[in-house]
Amino acid sequence: MKQFMVLYLMIWICVIFLCGIVHSEKPESVNIGAVFTFDSVIGRVAKAAMEMAVSDVNSDPIVLNGTKLNLIMKDGRCNAFLGSTGAFQVLEQGVAAIIGPQSSAIAHSISQIADAVKVPLISYAATDPTLSSLQFPLFFRTVQSDSEQMAAMANLIDFNGWKEVIVVFLDDDYGRNGVSALSDELENRRLKISHKLALSIHFDLDEITKLLNQTKVFNPRVFVVHINPDPRLRIFSVAHKLQMMTSEYVWLVTDWLAATLYSFSPVNQKSLSIVEGVVGLRQHIPDSSKKRDFVSRWKKMQKRVANTSWNSYGFFAYDTVWAVAHSIDKFLKVHDNITFSLRDNNMVPHTEGIGIQLEKLKTFVNGSDFVNILSLSNFSGVSGQIRFSSDRNVISSGYDVININQMKINRVGYWSNHSGFSVVPPEILAKQKHPRVSVDQKLENITWPGGKTERPRGWVIADNAKPLRIGVPRRASFVEFVTELQDSHKIQGYCIDIFMKALEFIPYEIPFVFKPVGNGKSNPNYDSLVKKIDQNVYDAVVGDIAIVTNRTKIVDFSQPFASSSLVIVAPINSSKSNAWVFLRPFSADMWCIIGASFLMIGVVIWILEHRVNDEFRGPPKKQLVTMFMFSLSTLFKTNSSPEEYAVALRNGPSGGGVAAIVDELPYVELFLSKETEFGIIGQPFTRSSWGFAFQRDSPLALDMSTAILKLAESGELQKIHEKWFCKMGCPGERKSNPKPDQLHLSSFWGLYLSCAVISVVALILFLLRIISQYVGFKQRQKDIVAPSSEQSESHCSRVVVNFFNFIDKKEDAIKKMFTQCDNPHNPN
Ligand SMILES: *[C@@H]1O[C@H](CO)[C@@H](O)[C@H](O)[C@H]1NC(C)=O
Ligand SMILES: *[C@@H]1O[C@H](CO)[C@@H](O)[C@H](O)[C@H]1NC(C)=O
Ligand SMILES: *[C@@H]1O[C@H](CO)[C@@H](O)[C@H](O)[C@H]1NC(C)=O
Ligand SMILES: *[C@@H]1O[C@H](CO)[C@@H](O)[C@H](O)[C@H]1NC(C)=O
Ligand SMILES: *[C@@H]1O[C@H](CO)[C@@H](O)[C@H](O)[C@H]1NC(C)=O
Ligand SMILES: *[C@@H]1O[C@H](CO)[C@@H](O)[C@H](O)[C@H]1NC(C)=O
Ligand SMILES: *[C@@H]1O[C@H](CO)[C@@H](O)[C@H](O)[C@H]1NC(C)=O
Ligand SMILES: *[C@@H]1O[C@H](CO)[C@@H](O)[C@H](O)[C@H]1NC(C)=O
Ligand SMILES: *[C@@H]1O[C@H](CO)[C@@H](O)[C@H](O)[C@H]1NC(C)=O
Ligand SMILES: *[C@@H]1O[C@H](CO)[C@@H](O)[C@H](O)[C@H]1NC(C)=O
Repeated sequence: MKQFMVLYLMIWICVIFLCGIVHSEKPESVNIGAVFTFDSVIGRVAKAAMEMAVSDVNSDPIVLNGTKLNLIMKDGRCNAFLGSTGAFQVLEQGVAAIIGPQSSAIAHSISQIADAVKVPLISYAATDPTLSSLQFPLFFRTVQSDSEQMAAMANLIDFNGWKEVIVVFLDDDYGRNGVSALSDELENRRLKISHKLALSIHFDLDEITKLLNQTKVFNPRVFVVHINPDPRLRIFSVAHKLQMMTSEYVWLVTDWLAATLYSFSPVNQKSLSIVEGVVGLRQHIPDSSKKRDFVSRWKKMQKRVANTSWNSYGFFAYDTVWAVAHSIDKFLKVHDNITFSLRDNNMVPHTEGIGIQLEKLKTFVNGSDFVNILSLSNFSGVSGQIRFSSDRNVISSGYDVININQMKINRVGYWSNHSGFSVVPPEILAKQKHPRVSVDQKLENITWPGGKTERPRGWVIADNAKPLRIGVPRRASFVEFVTELQDSHKIQGYCIDIFMKALEFIPYEIPFVFKPVGNGKSNPNYDSLVKKIDQNVYDAVVGDIAIVTNRTKIVDFSQPFASSSLVIVAPINSSKSNAWVFLRPFSADMWCIIGASFLMIGVVIWILEHRVNDEFRGPPKKQLVTMFMFSLSTLFKTNSSPEEYAVALRNGPSGGGVAAIVDELPYVELFLSKETEFGIIGQPFTRSSWGFAFQRDSPLALDMSTAILKLAESGELQKIHEKWFCKMGCPGERKSNPKPDQLHLSSFWGLYLSCAVISVVALILFLLRIISQYVGFKQRQKDIVAPSSEQSESHCSRVVVNFFNFIDKKEDAIKKMFTQCDNPHNPN
């Protein structure tokens, strides 16, 4: 019993001792401050969420066991002055951290104060990206920065293929810096903000009306609205009034709309009809059991306190309190107490008499330690895992893309920085094996304003009273490309046909007028025509405009619709060149050698024959050698007409014309479509093309390019080409003979003629010799047999028969006959 009593006493002493340690080491309570706008869409939710979080922390046995978390709230309104005053007031009470503010503008000024006393500022709603700058080392954020939101927005614009947007924003730190981030992100994707419409902080309906009404003359129809939550949705009610919620418009909004809409009570949901077709972003909050518990608790509370609305900022506010609580807990494990010193605050001016005693502000001792602990936070909150990146922003879970359709808020997909758009939540994608590789960018169907599901073009020719001014050259030669008809003043031609056809592939009406340029007597100068686009005299030029470097510097060209490489055109059916083609297998040297060798053999034979045969009358007296000179003189002369080309080519270099012409392929093709005796020789020796010229950055250039590519792919371009250039067979086909290397009989008639001439000459020589022999023979015969032969000699047929008999005799016999004749008195 006694022993038991001793044991009991010892345990009791131990308990008292331990409790003494706990009580002496841990402060009873720790203060944290909160400065925000109580009466606002975000503030109402945040207030309730923070109160809930504080009571949860205080009832949690692990975090801050034995220490009460005390939240001191001050209303900053929407005002940097009141916000700063609130910050001073909470700092006076010795707070370890300040939660809030929700407004970026207030955050800028409070950050500087907090920095002076080493108290960190943790915001659940200030999204201004510049707050992450090194200027504010104590600013933390449990909500995604707008730099991320704007990346998502720019991605959404790019994803839908819009090139230019109009931004409506609140002209304060939040709006301006958000838009600046959007501008950077768009620039990275080579898109742009065409107009920035600034709203003042306390904007009214008149101001919005004026602002939106002026956009009717702008071409882009994609609006990005980046303002503060506005329960009256004034901007959209004005847009409705101005007929700007129709199918040609696109309205994209940042997370403010989701925050506004979710805080509507069910009765108020009717006003959703005003934002039908709007597409917005909302911070993505991954599904978790913590989140579901929190939401169900919230709903119960909402029933008790009927006018408490709800939005995702509630999650962030709740987690912010927990992040601070976790950090204080860790801090207290190292440092016994949270203490403040008066040491370092001589930077704060002496200000008595304005109600706040600034000299009472004390510096958080070991505050930088606390900031370190805070930056290493890692716990799972209701909005997901809470961790801070090196720029003190919470590591984000991305965004939901929402679309208001049939008075419901529909989530149509997700966006995250590493996987882009998907219909699967990013945290599930991240768990898959190859999240980056396998993700294809897609969203569910979106219903746009006007109720259509097909994506609006986002760009129109705004003012129908002002059609596009399209310059067209009034050509004087090669008028088939483009010109104005003299009598009817109709503009027509190959280029015009392509332009009109391409317009059919552009899914919207483009009002335009053609403005012919030039006097019709000579072709206009194309460089100055292009310059007129730059000078805003014309919006575009349609015609045979070559795409060359210094033109691309001042205008945007569409995709090329015709190749305009330089080619050589020359006669292809000249009999002269074809008949002697057999000469080509051997070079001129070779032919000289062959000729010389023939000559030499001839000489040798002649010498040999000459020695053995006295009657040999010698070889052919002369040999004809034809030399061919291919003198290539070319015609570089633009603005010539097809008729001039043909005349020059027909005359040939010897007749004052040319042997070949160098010109751009389309002109040559048109020329060849009328002439069949000429063709393209060899390969083109430059590569260039024609396109339509537009003003710099005109979205029409892009649409026209797409249309031209579609024309080319569908074969329409070729059809138009054939219509204009293939009246007498396509010149291209003429050039490419199916069997180009085959030699025809016509190629050899020169050779055959040579043979024939030589043979005939030889035959004639032979005959002459025979005849002379025959005549000589007959003369001798006459001398021997004098009178009897007189009768037969006069008979013609007899002479012929005798002659052929003579020919028929062998050379030897003839020689014998001559020797007989020479010795008539020989007895034999
Ligand atoms: C902790 O510090 C506060 C003042 O900052 C002081 O009021 C409190 O008594 C201290 N608590 C302990 C347990 O030292
Ligand atoms: C919290 O403190 C109480 C006494 O103050 C103690 O009984 C309890 O074990 C502590 N809980 C934890 C988890 O430390
Ligand atoms: C998004 O991801 C890229 C790389 O994929 C990274 O450079 C960038 O910093 C990220 N942006 C944010 C806001 O996390
Ligand atoms: C919009 O502007 C036009 C002129 O640009 C004006 O005629 C019209 O009355 C304005 N509409 C409103 C609602 O202000
Ligand atoms: C509910 O709203 C009314 C007025 O709208 C306000 O007077 C009251 O304080 C609100 N209650 C809560 C708990 O916010
Ligand atoms: C806390 O601050 C005091 C005084 O500034 C300093 O002496 C001490 O080393 C600091 N403690 C830690 C853990 O940094
Ligand atoms: C954060 O905590 C989780 C577990 O709660 C752990 O898996 C993760 O590695 C931690 N991250 C860091 C950066 O410490
Ligand atoms: C989305 O639109 C396409 C065609 O526009 C349609 O085939 C498809 O069924 C739609 N999907 C949903 C989920 O409505
Ligand atoms: C393009 O360069 C040529 C000379 O190379 C010049 O004559 C012409 O004016 C230039 N055109 C433009 C639009 O600068
Ligand atoms: C060559 O020209 C003649 C007339 O000079 C014409 O009959 C013939 O068809 C032409 N041949 C070719 C291949 O064009």
